[in-house]
Amino acid sequence: MLEVRRFADAKEVATDAAERFVEIAAEASITRGRFTVALAGGSTPRLLYQLLAAPPFRARVDWARAEVFFGDERCVPPDHPDSNFRMCRESLLDHVPILAERIHRMRGEQSDRQRAARLYQEEMAAAFGVGPDRAPPRLDLILLGLGADGHTASLFPHTDPLREGERWVVTNIAPVQPTFRLTLTAPVFERAENILFLVVGADKARALADVLEGTLDADRLPAQLIRPSGATVLWLIDAAAGSLLTNLAP
Ligand code: 6PG
Repeated sequence: MLEVRRFADAKEVATDAAERFVEIAAEASITRGRFTVALAGGSTPRLLYQLLAAPPFRARVDWARAEVFFGDERCVPPDHPDSNFRMCRESLLDHVPILAERIHRMRGEQSDRQRAARLYQEEMAAAFGVGPDRAPPRLDLILLGLGADGHTASLFPHTDPLREGERWVVTNIAPVQPTFRLTLTAPVFERAENILFLVVGADKARALADVLEGTLDADRLPAQLIRPSGATVLWLIDAAAGSLLTNLAP
């Protein structure tokens, strides 16, 4: 199921995203005893994380049951200003009672990036109690953003990882700094229970309209790869990002 919800501004987007986060976390905690989530990087989700880290949302999540992964990471040390882990830690993880061993960060700082990708796949496999050479696990929630060029996570246009069909985590090269990245792949996104895209700002309007309403061309628009059959894919967008959508009433 794919649903697009448009809000007036970034604050409303983040607030609705926080509500969805709380609901999905509660359902997963009750039905499976645990809530597995992959956080998004970039700047857009910061507001969501800040909301989740403070009253009233903070108390509405059973953080002891949360197991946190990352959708992608820039290849920088974890305390670098460009680190997705650092952004998530400062805005959310430092402020909620999650067990340290349940926070699984990608080791973007390792010089052998292939190895870092492989180790992350193994760490995910161990956390889910599955073999690292099997089909990827099903995360309860994957948060994603959209770049103005149509990328999502660190799946950039016209790059090899777009065609990855087996590995869960690979390295990639971004057209912008920081160049080197680690990213989850389509096989992981395809198995997710819920995907939540947060897209804000007029600079995303063209890409958003092309991804949602344009011709299918995932090589040019990697976010089009994220169409898992069994999942709920929810796009939470603001008016500016949605300004070029034609199939959505204003
Ligand atoms: C990253 C991302 C990336 C991001 C988009 C949107 O590490 O950069 O995970 O996919 O979500 O580029 O970024 P903004 O939210 O900063 O616009």
